[in-house]
This record gives sequence, C-alpha cells and structure tokens, in this order.
Amino acid sequence: MSLLSSLTDRFADAYQASGLERALGAVTVSDRPDLAQFQNNGALAAARGAGRPPRDIAADVIAAAGDPEVFSDLSVAGPGFINISLTDSYLGRHVDRLAADSRFGAVAHDPDRRVLIDFGGPNVAKAMHVGHLRSSLIGDSLQRVFRFAGYTVLSDIHFGDWGTQMGQLIIEAQLRKPDLPYFDPGFTGPYPEEPPFTLEDLQEMYPAVAARTKADPAEAERAREATLELQQGRPGYRALWQHFWNVSHDSQQRDFAQLGVGFDLWHGESTVHDRVAPMLERMQDVATEDAGALIIDVAEEADTKEVPPLLLTKSDGGYLYGTTDLATIDNRVAMKVDEALYVVDARQSLHFEQVFRAAYKAGIASQSMILEHVPFGTMNGPDGKPFKTREGGVLRLDDLIGLVRDAALARLDEAELATEYDEEERRDIAEKVGLAALKYGDLSNNRASNYVFDLDRFTAFEGKTGPYLLYGAVRIKSILRKAADADLVPGSIIAPTVDPERRLMLELSRFPEVIERTIESRAPNHLAEFAYDVVTAFNRFYEECHILSERDAERQASWLGLVELTLAMVSTLLDLLGIEIPERM
Ligand code: ARG
Repeated sequence: MSLLSSLTDRFADAYQASGLERALGAVTVSDRPDLAQFQNNGALAAARGAGRPPRDIAADVIAAAGDPEVFSDLSVAGPGFINISLTDSYLGRHVDRLAADSRFGAVAHDPDRRVLIDFGGPNVAKAMHVGHLRSSLIGDSLQRVFRFAGYTVLSDIHFGDWGTQMGQLIIEAQLRKPDLPYFDPGFTGPYPEEPPFTLEDLQEMYPAVAARTKADPAEAERAREATLELQQGRPGYRALWQHFWNVSHDSQQRDFAQLGVGFDLWHGESTVHDRVAPMLERMQDVATEDAGALIIDVAEEADTKEVPPLLLTKSDGGYLYGTTDLATIDNRVAMKVDEALYVVDARQSLHFEQVFRAAYKAGIASQSMILEHVPFGTMNGPDGKPFKTREGGVLRLDDLIGLVRDAALARLDEAELATEYDEEERRDIAEKVGLAALKYGDLSNNRASNYVFDLDRFTAFEGKTGPYLLYGAVRIKSILRKAADADLVPGSIIAPTVDPERRLMLELSRFPEVIERTIESRAPNHLAEFAYDVVTAFNRFYEECHILSERDAERQASWLGLVELTLAMVSTLLDLLGIEIPERM
C-alpha cells in the first residue's frame, strides 16, 4: 500500500476521533521539505464549520494521531498546518516492503475494465509526420502504464485507409500505368499478386495527385467517384487498394518496430465499412437531411462556441472521416470496450467533440462508456513551426531515428563512453541512447504544450534528458555487478541514518501516486519527471554512502537492497516510457 494512503488513513482516523470528517485527513508531501516530510491541512478547512481556531483542532488531531513508532515529529505550523515526519525505522520498514512488491505499492486496477487506446493513426501511402510520432510515443506510454496498472488494454492504430485519398491514389495510378488490369471493368481476374507500386512510388504519387485535385475540380470529381466506387466494392479498385494497403502496412510496421511501439489491432477505417449502412439505418430518428446530405445536429445549449452538425453522408452517398469514426465506436462497443482514449493531435478536438456527441446522442455508445480525446500539442522546429526537414519536407520516421542515433554516437564519443566496445555494440547503444533522447524529449513535456525539438539538448548527458537517465541506470547496474564480483549480496532494507538515504527512500515511496496521476491525467510527463527525481536522489545517495567500502555488513546489505530497488523502479519507469536500457555504456 502507498505510504501516502496509509498516512492519510491514520489522519482520517484521528479526525474522526475528534468528531470531524474523515476526508480532512488527506496527507500530502510537504511544501517545505526542510521542515517536514509530509503535511496535512485539514484543520484549516475544518475550522470554519467547527467554529474553533484551526490550531486547536490541529492540536487535537495530533494528540489522536500520535504514535511514536510511526512519527518522529507531528507539530502545528503557521495558522494550523500539521507538519509530519516519520521515524527512520518506520520508513525503512515501509521501503523494505516496497522492495518485495513487483508493483512497488501501486494500486491494482480492475482487469475486467477494458480500455482501448487509439493512437498512431498513420495513413496509407502518406509518410508519417511528427503528429503521428507524438501520438505514437504518448499512446505507447499510456498503453504500457494502463497495462501495468492492471487494466485490460487494447491498442488500435486506426489506420487511415478509406478516405478520399484512396480515390486520389487510384486515379493517379491509372494516369501512370493505364494498362494495369485494375482499371478495366471487363477484367475477370485474377489480379496480379505483385504490387504495382512501391511505398516510395506511393509517397511521391500522393502529394502529386493531392495538388492536382486541389487545382482542378474535374480531377477532384474523378477522385471522388473513384473513392465512391472503391467503397461500393468495384473489384479492380479493391484489388489495387489492397496493394496500397499491404505496401504501406509492411513499411509502417517496420518503422513502428524500430521505434519499439506495438499495437494489438491494426484496424483501419475500412474495417468498419460494413457497419456504416446498418448504423445509419439505426440513426434515422436523430439524423436529418440537408441538401441531399445526411447530418446529425450535435449542438448543445451550454455551448460557448459553435459546434456544427456532423456530416454523415455526402449528397453522393459517400462516407466521411467522422462517419467511419462513428462506426468505429459502434465496433468498439461490440468489442465490449468500457473506455476509449483517442491520442490525437489537439487540432482534431472539434472533430472528436462532434463524433462523441453524435455517438451518445444516437445511442451508439451508452452514457457509461467513456469516449475521450487525449490531445497533444505539436513538436516544432527551431523556427517555432511544426518540425520539417531542412529541405522543408516531412521527416520520415526512419530518417529521424537515424538522425538521433548519429547524434547519440557523437555524444558517446564526446563523453568518452562505450569507447572499447565493438562497432555492433556501440551502434546498439547509440540507437538506445538516441531513442531515449527522442522519447524522453517528447514525453517529459506537458502533453498539451507545443515544444521545440532540440537535438542538442535532448541528447545531452546532463540535465533532464533520456541519456542522463540511461547513464544513471547503467551506472546502477554496474554498481550491482561490482558488488556481486566482491561476493556482496543485497539484503533487507533497514532504517536510514543519513539524509540522502532518507530522501531516496521518500522519493521511491512516491511511486504509487505517480502511477495514479499518470492514469488520471493520461499524461506520461509525470512518469518522466519522477524517473528524473529518482535518479537524481540516487546519485546524491551514492555520493554520500560509500557502499562498496562500508564496514557494517548489515548496513552494506541494506544499501545494496536499496540500490537494487532503485534499479528495479527506474527500469520499470523507463519501460513505461517505452525506453530501453543498454546493459552497459
Ligand atoms: N489518420 C488520422 C490522421 O492522420 C488520425 C486517426 C486518429 N484516430 C481516429 N480514430 N480518428 O489525422
């Protein structure tokens, strides 16, 4: 159980014993670590209702809570705060219990609760851009932490494989290779197995046709018709589309694997195509016709800004991005999902507002189902605009990974790290350091803010960076290796005697709250921040406590136990951020 919740329980009992509300007992980490470890502010809140001075109430609560085994200090401060510090023996026992728990005291959530995380969201034939990268990093960290917390998690990439772009690609394909059988309505098959275009082709074709259809309404019209025919099942178009899909899927799956990000489901917009018509049928009562199109009004009285109706079908009968998202919710209900989190760029907020409202209004989702947009800001370049390559193009994910790997290699040289290892290991270390730099650089920011991608800062071994944490973790590993070589074995953790040791123990005890906060706010920056705090507290402890030369065997074993616990927790935290630790550096 978490230290804060057991202290809170004790204080709740003490308030109750003084005839006051249990809820007043909330204990928090002290704002003034120089004066106390924890604090409780309940007496101040109780004073108004009780008609008594807060300091008097605090004195009563202290008298009721006091336990010399647990508290080394309970005192009233200022207008009526209660300052709280623990005895070293209580703290030591608590941390020793943490070390025996693979969850470090974190709450086990209900495994029957099914949480779907929709993230990644790349599109067929389009290069992934930084928005997809952020979605992938944040979404992956969230799937890891929700899983760690005990929920049943389903991650779904929601592949963009069904919109107007598909029709655009088809007409572009026809322009480039008109003799392919896919365009011949009389062709009776079978269609070739070899894909007619590579991913490079597709990525070049897509912007070309996008520009053409934008400039020329007749071309746009052809693309629209091709999309409709594809969606209505024209065999040649379906076969060609399947090639586009496979080629894009294979390459993107490789990219995601390099990034260390995996999905349970590769569902796409096309997956739910067959659900759309019956769903629209069921929506008859809430949908209305508008100039041949079908729409659903989702405005609410309390709206302060205009929320326009969601367009369900265009006048030609074609479906839209929102229509597929609605059908996807229908599918997720069928998959018994309780909670669906959409980790998507903040610029799509209005879209999700419309879709979620429509889903509730039409009864596709029950009111008890949670549909939530988890928005994030953009990763910007040094110019403050969304990150682009030097040439102004979209940066491909594998190029980005190459970029951070090279920068990491340069940093390793500069810091004279990993110099004696063979090329292969050095490359592997650089890849891990590079990815840690990239992921930590992203995840340590508040999810909603924009941030600047600063390769120099992200790859530094000093400061709040991925490489700093990896270096810290690797150093902890090497301490344990050295101890093992000297036949020293970690033992049970006993009462701390020096301040950096106490600080480290208090820091480690915060783990359960950090996990809860991350889950509640759907924001991995809390994990990132905490991992940094733990490594920093460890470094201070290690400076002060000379473990390997300690004469008192019990103390030495306890310190090694603390080292082992720190490593286990840091490894868990980095894993929850999707960061891998090399064996050595
Ligand atoms: N493919 C979309 C894009 O590139 C992102 C998909 C997000 N998920 C969703 N259910 N709409 O913008």
